[in-house]
Amino acid sequence: MQETAWWQRGIIYEVYPRSFQDSNGDGVGDLNGILQRLDYLVKLGVDALWISPFYSSPMADFGYDVADYCGIDPLFGAMQDFDRLLQEIHNRGLKLILDLVPNHTSDQHPWFLESRSSRENSKRDWYLWRDEANNWQSNFGGPGWEWDDFTGQYYYHSFLKQQPDLNWRNRLVRTAIFQAMRFWLARGVDGFRVDVIWLMIKDDQFRDNPPNPSFRPGQPSSHRFLPVFNSDRPQVHEVVSEMRAVIDDYRDRVLIGEIYLPIPQLMAYYGKDLGGTQLPFNFQLLQTAWTAEALARAISEYDDALPAGAWPNWVLGNHDNARIATRVGSHQARLAAMLLLSLPGTITLYYGEEIGMTNVPIPPDLVQDPAEKNEPGIGVGRDPERTPMPWDSSPLAGFTTGRPWLPLGEDHASLNVEKSDQDPESILHLYRTLIALRRRHSVLVTGELHSIAAANNVLSYERRGEGERLRVLLNLGDAPIPIPSAIGEILAATSPCCLSERPNGLMQLGAAMGLIVRLPAEKYATNGTSSREGRFS
Ligand code: GLC
Repeated sequence: MQETAWWQRGIIYEVYPRSFQDSNGDGVGDLNGILQRLDYLVKLGVDALWISPFYSSPMADFGYDVADYCGIDPLFGAMQDFDRLLQEIHNRGLKLILDLVPNHTSDQHPWFLESRSSRENSKRDWYLWRDEANNWQSNFGGPGWEWDDFTGQYYYHSFLKQQPDLNWRNRLVRTAIFQAMRFWLARGVDGFRVDVIWLMIKDDQFRDNPPNPSFRPGQPSSHRFLPVFNSDRPQVHEVVSEMRAVIDDYRDRVLIGEIYLPIPQLMAYYGKDLGGTQLPFNFQLLQTAWTAEALARAISEYDDALPAGAWPNWVLGNHDNARIATRVGSHQARLAAMLLLSLPGTITLYYGEEIGMTNVPIPPDLVQDPAEKNEPGIGVGRDPERTPMPWDSSPLAGFTTGRPWLPLGEDHASLNVEKSDQDPESILHLYRTLIALRRRHSVLVTGELHSIAAANNVLSYERRGEGERLRVLLNLGDAPIPIPSAIGEILAATSPCCLSERPNGLMQLGAAMGLIVRLPAEKYATNGTSSREGRFS
């Protein structure tokens, strides 16, 4: 197999720590809980954990409001728990990716307390203070500027007013965050997922954003303006490359960027001469309509746009978006798994995806997410995709012995890890099969994408390389489709009854079912470049 780094061939698994496993009965997951479940992740076959923030935090945005970049919040454990967890992760041959939140701190961070203490304070310029507010909005609703009575100025917050934005034009801010990165890198973490990396630099003239002509009432208020001057500013790439330089001082680490941008702008985050993020998160599968045609277009567009040497990556879900099994339904979630795990590059899974977890409706009095509290009822709430992992059929699903911070899904007695483990036809088994297949057939990781096509809601493509040629056939439609009887050797199917014989002797692929087949070797004339090398170096 082509020489690849762990973060290229590996599968990353996102753990939302509040909801994975509680070890002390307070209803909130913690680091020791994650430790208890490491062997489950080994059995699943993933290679790396990305854990959402567990730093000291007032939890206004559940840890994305950091009060100490180098401290662990007692809710999640202590530094010795972290060190043990990291050790055990490494003992199992897994990697650990931390969530870095550099765009903003908590308003309780000592830096901000100093900054707001007086206009003359040496950290005043660490945040964005202005005499006048412009029209920049908070992504969690309402204006992005908060008036501070004490010093008589406004400060800017891209999210909650408890999350003031740092001023990344200030060199000392950069140094301080880079130091925090080094603190964790020296401890042995294998990389960072950088929160809202594309928002880090704002217009130095604080120009107003233009109105968004397609804004409609009922949409989040932040959509009223186009985020021209407070996001994706050209100078952000300088910051990204400096972060990358920090990573590169250590061996074999990875920098992943959270970026919600159209494909051309997204690609810029690989950086000049690929000195940016190694993996700018690709959210195409989160944002594309679930039809064969739309998916084929999105996949081709992304693949075609990758700069030379850039490594692709794919994602179906995360802690900010509706779960895949809710977006496409439980049957199609199996197809989604096959799609995800047969695309090139690095794959990231979101906890619970592998058992087909769905969004859990949250009654208004149990809502936790500040985004939902600020703009209720318009669908911005993220609690439904953050509910506790159901491990077994016991009353609290093996997640906690206390009161879970968010309700368990109503189906937790039937849909849980234990039951899925016992049922060879569960989606969990399908995930394990597909992950193992990906490991055995490295063409699925490094091979080229070919012949992407969509017709009658059937999505198909080929993967070529490593001396192999595989075809993926995904029937997204609600009717069976005829397929040639000599289609090739079947390597994986989304369910055992995918294929049936029609009375005329021809074969058909069932509705919402998919296959990965190996095409006969002689049909594949290899030209010697058996991987992405040919195109990507
Ligand atoms: C990112 C995180 C999200 C958080 C926001 C503010 O988008 O993924 O959960 O609320 O940043 O930090």
